[in-house]
Amino acid sequence: MAGQKVHEAYGGVVPELASRAHQQHIVPVVHEALKVAGVTKEQLSAIAFTNGPGLLGSLLVGVSFAKSMALGLGIPLIDVNHMQAHVLAHFIDQDRVPEFPFLCLTVSGGHTQIVRVDAPMDMTVIGETIDDAAGEAFDKAAKIIGLPYPGGPLVDKLAAQGDPTRFEFPIPRIQGTNFSFSGLKTAFLYLVRDELAKDDQFIEKNRDHLAASIQRSIVAILMSKIKRAARGTGIDQIAIAGGVAANSGLRNAINETGEKLGWDVFIPEFQYCTDNAAMIAMTAHFKYLNHEFVGQDIFPSARMKL
Ligand code: KG4
Ligand code: ZN
Repeated sequence: MAGQKVHEAYGGVVPELASRAHQQHIVPVVHEALKVAGVTKEQLSAIAFTNGPGLLGSLLVGVSFAKSMALGLGIPLIDVNHMQAHVLAHFIDQDRVPEFPFLCLTVSGGHTQIVRVDAPMDMTVIGETIDDAAGEAFDKAAKIIGLPYPGGPLVDKLAAQGDPTRFEFPIPRIQGTNFSFSGLKTAFLYLVRDELAKDDQFIEKNRDHLAASIQRSIVAILMSKIKRAARGTGIDQIAIAGGVAANSGLRNAINETGEKLGWDVFIPEFQYCTDNAAMIAMTAHFKYLNHEFVGQDIFPSARMKL
């Protein structure tokens, strides 16, 4: 696995730097993965790759590498949808897996979706964000209080020492099971700006309370919508996935609500929440069983839908 240090200095992901980093790391990472797994490339049954959604430059590095490896080894090529893979992370190495149909709240840096999952390859988005993603809301709030990118995990850490009720933010009124986070970000920005005008030490004095309060609001929005989706569909198998599923506030809230409402709750291990290759392999496994392969003419798509 290669790190994300390259983005820290710029306060966000720079697409061109991301693709160059992919190019630099792909050969050593694949080499290392085979070594750790204790398999040779001749033992591989297929090559899987992410073909979207994501940054096109990075996707191109992956698809080109996967195509040549599959061609060279004479084995099938499998394309994987990144958002589907986040959901199917629930089937990696687990003795307890969700029953179909289940609902998955997929929350990452680029997406916020409620997905109805009827089978590994049969998923329907029943709610999604109309503006920012939940991870983006965490990262933007983190930036406002001077934390480096990606700020989500740091907000989580600071929140543990803060008072989540210190600052109140309005909860958006969005119909149905869709989400909105941009109003919350603006309210957070204005609060910090107004308080800084009165006391230039405001952030230093309140960083943990600000983190705890924004986390509470983001989690409250997520919880209200997943509860509504569960009620509306009558489904009580509830899962969370994606980078923000690593958030301790969300993990606690989903467990507590699940207990109260009689849900079966599924939360991935930390390492399978944020982007990882195992979830891509897991999805490819289901496609392999169905013989769902693609040809050498496949092209990635940055804005691919689930
Ligand atoms: O799924 P992911 O690794 O990549 C995308 O597909 O976007 O999600 C990354 C997002 C980032 O916005 C990051 O700040 C957020 O997940 N994140 C967290 C935590 N860990 C990662 N947000 C809040 N609390 C966390 N513990
Ligand atoms: Zn992701």
